[in-house]
Formats: sequence, C-alpha cells, structure tokens
Amino acid sequence: MADDTVNCKRRNFLWGVASGLGAAGAAGVAVPFVSSMMPAADTLAASTTEFDLSTLVSGQLVVIAWQGNPVFVVHRTEAMLKRLTNHEHKLKDPESHADPRVQADWMKTSEQRLVRSIKPEYLVLNAACTHLGCIPLFKPSPGQAEWGDTVPSDWPGGWHCPCHGSLYDLAGRVFDGSPAPFNLYTVPYKYLSDTKILIG
Ligand code: FES
Repeated sequence: MADDTVNCKRRNFLWGVASGLGAAGAAGVAVPFVSSMMPAADTLAASTTEFDLSTLVSGQLVVIAWQGNPVFVVHRTEAMLKRLTNHEHKLKDPESHADPRVQADWMKTSEQRLVRSIKPEYLVLNAACTHLGCIPLFKPSPGQAEWGDTVPSDWPGGWHCPCHGSLYDLAGRVFDGSPAPFNLYTVPYKYLSDTKILIG
C-alpha cells in the first residue's frame, strides 16, 4: 500500500508537470522554462526554492519542486478570482480553519482565507491531494466543457484528483463529497521583491 502511494505520487507529479506544460503551451509561454523546473537531485534537497512570478502569464499554472515536493503556482486572472465565491456552502472548510498555515500572518482575514495567498492573483499551494497524495489535474475552465456531465454544470474551475475524484476550487478548497479531508495545504513563502517569492 505504501509503495502504491509512493508510485501514485511519482506518477502524478509527472502528470502535474505535464499539466503545467500544457498550460504553458496554451498560453504561448516558452516550454523550456517549465522544463527547467524539473527537479534535479540537489534541487530536491533544497530547503528553500525561489521562483520569479513574472515568468507566468495570466491563467497559467506551473509545478515547481520544493524540498522534493511538487508545488502549484498559479497566476489567477480576475475572472478566476471572481469564481471563488458563491459556492462556499459546497465546501468542507471554506475558510481553511483546518490548514496549519491558517495562523500565518497573511491568513488572518476572511478575504485572505478566501483567496489563500499573499497577493490574490498568485496562488502557491502544496500540490499533493490531501487524501492519499496524488497530484490533482488543473481544470480551470468553468462549467462542464472539460468534463461532460461528471461534475455539476456550475463547476467554478479548480482541480480534479484523478486517483479517487476529489475536487478542489481555484483556491484549492475541497468540495463536499470528495474523499480528501482537507483543502490543498498552503506552503510557507514570502516575497523577496514585487515578483520574486521564496518558498520555505
Ligand atoms: S489521492 Fe486524491 S482523491 Fe485520493
């Protein structure tokens, strides 16, 4: 079972990176940049990771490595941010009270708990599904365009975990009915400049 879980994490890390590549391609961003984020052994061991947010275009997701773990970084559009409201009643923990990072300075207000980030437009999350650690797939488009009828027609966009079907919104908040018990965890990070962050 432990091996299965590890294999699931490894396989889905690659899927997650592939998802980032897809987003980059769709947005017209140079793929080599994202490829360069594939972790080398020494990178995996690094306790902190710097990332330049200015390399992202609006709506883009990339998956980077921090301490050997995949981390989602998303440049959310205004439209994505607007789609964080009106479905709180369908979420297990809309204000992230179960997130250990909720005590961080930037998670104090309801607004910050809604967007789950320091700057609303840039989301930084641990990419491991809180069920058994698979890497959810990025499904940012609203409605059923990418889904057929397997999700409600009012799907606001977010992530779908391919392992057991957990659904997360565009702030990584988990929907009721998902096997995942918690929202995707935030990670410790701070801004080194207007666009550069340090994770860890
Ligand atoms: S690991 Fe994501 S739903 Fe089970």
